[in-house]
Amino acid sequence: MFFRTRDGMRPAPLTHNPFNALVGPRPIAWVSTVDVDGTANLAPFSYFNAGSADPPFVMFAPNAKGPGAAKDSYANLLAVPEFVVSLVSRAQAEQMNASSKAYAHGVDEFARCGVTPAPCHTVRPPRVAASLAALECHVYEVVTLPVGSDQRASHVVIGEVTAIHIDDSVIENGQVSERRLDPLARLGAFNYGTLGEIFAIARPE
Ligand SMILES: Cc1cc2nc3c(=O)[nH]c(=O)nc-3n(C[C@H](O)[C@H](O)[C@H](O)COP(=O)(O)O)c2cc1C
Repeated sequence: MFFRTRDGMRPAPLTHNPFNALVGPRPIAWVSTVDVDGTANLAPFSYFNAGSADPPFVMFAPNAKGPGAAKDSYANLLAVPEFVVSLVSRAQAEQMNASSKAYAHGVDEFARCGVTPAPCHTVRPPRVAASLAALECHVYEVVTLPVGSDQRASHVVIGEVTAIHIDDSVIENGQVSERRLDPLARLGAFNYGTLGEIFAIARPE
């Protein structure tokens, strides 16, 4: 099939936006922020990836809840431009998903979803204590994208990673063991994946 994206993202026979399945698997950022009063917010974002390794930068993309309606994560970032990306392992899939519910602004999903927080060193939001790795980030730039056919704009939040937590249990022979990290990946529709085969390929000389 072929379609022009500005004509809509679900042409028949597609029942879901195919973009999520085509650009994947994606890692999941479990993003924590705080509002001006210091109340924490936690939500997952799979429009997430790295942009640079040294200095390390990441980006994630909160879209709007509806026309002009910002998600709490984004609203918090405008007030306190700091966030933490806690990485999601398979074991945290259900809790991560629970935290994606659209709770009212001011609801702390750590408390509401039974996720234990742990303090950070260079930013105010807490990280997820059980995550095997977490990235403390300061907002570097926010890019606002045009509204789509559903009238919801998205924002690409670019953050500089100012500190990194890695649980010692995932370090093996001087490297992060992807097998021990057991990252959960987001696919299309409501699908998720985990790591299959892991193999190495040396770079060409
Ligand atoms: C696995 C997963 C990935 C998600 N990825 C995104 C994303 O990349 N961008 C987005 O705007 N919403 C994404 N969502 C939906 C948000 O988590 C959801 O809208 C949440 O309520 C936002 O919370 P907030 O208003 O507290 O920021 C995702 C949900 C799940 C379960």
